[in-house]
Amino acid sequence: MAARLLLLLVVWFHAQVGFASHIQGRDAAAASNAPTSSNGVSSSAMQNLQHELGFNGLILLSNSPNFLNFTQAWAMNYNATPQVALVPHTSNDVAVAIKWVNAFNLDFAIRSGGAAASQSHQVIISLSLLNTVDYIPSQGVIHLGPGNVWGDVYDAMADLDVTALGGRLPLIGVGGIVDAEVVLADGSIVWASENPDLLYAVRGAGFTIGAVTEYVVKAYPKPTQIYSGFVLFTMENFEAIAANVANTTAHNTDPDVAILMGVVLSGGVQTILVFPIVLGTEAFAKEALSWIWALPDPILDTTTNVSWETLQSLQLDFVSHPLPTDDYQQHSIVVRSMTTSILQAAVDWQTPLLSDPRWAGLQILIEPFIPNSFASHFTTGPWPHSYPTMHVIQLFIQESNAATSDFTENFNQLVTGAGLVEAAAGSNNVLQRYPNYYLQGTPANQFYGSNLAKLEAVKGEFDPHNKFNKGIAITPTTRSRA
Ligand SMILES: *[C@@H]1O[C@H](CO)[C@@H](O)[C@H](O)[C@H]1NC(C)=O
Ligand SMILES: *[C@@H]1O[C@H](CO)[C@@H](O)[C@H](O)[C@H]1NC(C)=O
Ligand SMILES: *[C@@H]1O[C@H](CO)[C@@H](O)[C@H](O)[C@H]1NC(C)=O
Repeated sequence: MAARLLLLLVVWFHAQVGFASHIQGRDAAAASNAPTSSNGVSSSAMQNLQHELGFNGLILLSNSPNFLNFTQAWAMNYNATPQVALVPHTSNDVAVAIKWVNAFNLDFAIRSGGAAASQSHQVIISLSLLNTVDYIPSQGVIHLGPGNVWGDVYDAMADLDVTALGGRLPLIGVGGIVDAEVVLADGSIVWASENPDLLYAVRGAGFTIGAVTEYVVKAYPKPTQIYSGFVLFTMENFEAIAANVANTTAHNTDPDVAILMGVVLSGGVQTILVFPIVLGTEAFAKEALSWIWALPDPILDTTTNVSWETLQSLQLDFVSHPLPTDDYQQHSIVVRSMTTSILQAAVDWQTPLLSDPRWAGLQILIEPFIPNSFASHFTTGPWPHSYPTMHVIQLFIQESNAATSDFTENFNQLVTGAGLVEAAAGSNNVLQRYPNYYLQGTPANQFYGSNLAKLEAVKGEFDPHNKFNKGIAITPTTRSRA
């Protein structure tokens, strides 16, 4: 059982990359050569799609009652006012759609089942109906459509004794990959395993190369004994909890033992959330993380034996579901070591904002990882790269009135918070921002580091004209496939 939680957490990161694979922001579109002067998609283009190319999926225009189901951005500042949504039923439909957008030089974005940040000025190709979950016992693999979110996958596999290792949040899009079916820019449909470079790129940057229409992920035995839940404390315990979180992060090397920490608003009051995730018995958990249960007067303690499926759903209590939501903004920092001063700086950012009526919610989420969680994955895909130990500090604000919010000003609040945390961490300790998902304007080298050159070459091979140009900007280097 020892390796499983480590895998869970690592693959969770991969899953987030998979989900980020389809995030395609406005700035990224503007930075590309995509046409942005007119959003209109001509009626002759629409007729060509239906009559000449015989697209068999759903075609929705912006006046369709279901249009927003397939196009709405997760945060309103990402909305790029798309005009047409294409919803393929098969990978062949995806190939038709890709050929069409390229024949008419239309701006397009691909979106999978995830958090719905993928945006384009003209066409959204939504893969939400590609939602296979197919376990193949003889091969020990699971075929997953990109339209799934992890909650769907766990639900579909609830009666099996194996599972996919995927997102910690059931609403994160499917990622983590052994193989993948990909529709390339020229409309051809290929399996990534046929070409090591393509498989490499798909593991962490598939969105820069093509549209992934099916993932094949390894099946793992489900952990049978899990102890987890929420323990909530008042801020009076902050110093003690911060010291223990820092110490556990520094010294715990058992992949079956993990903690998350949050500072969340509950009834307008800051509340500390400690979220142990232990693959083992209650007795084992209470020995490995004894400090949690030694602290005085928890407000609430829901820790108990949980199933794999329950573990995956626990965090839904802390996020709105289903996504997309239009009232959250988020920013994050990645550090090499977790210190009490980092945790203190995050709280120092949050505290004065509590009385500001613009914010309905303010959250800090601390995600420590055990040492070397990432080390073995540096060469199998472009992400992650070069940092064996990374810990994530996430800051969130939720708007009281999203419709009238000034997104720029609100985002600046998050940047300020990130700056405070960075200053407290010290420059040698700060590795990067946005470790595993795309936020607007993130430079590619922050994601891929020294793997970037190889990724650019693979891009040059499979998408030399940069048709898949949203999200993280990858410049194809000239090494044509033709
Ligand atoms: C669109 O979303 C609405 C509201 O959630 C739902 O009732 C409807 O069935 C959805 N339509 C499609 C085509 O998924
Ligand atoms: C720090 O963590 C380690 C490993 O988790 C534990 O053995 C040790 O007792 C902790 N130290 C303190 C001061 O709590
Ligand atoms: C939790 O699991 C252990 C080991 O299987 C079992 O002995 C114990 O009774 C369970 N506790 C509860 C509250 O179900």
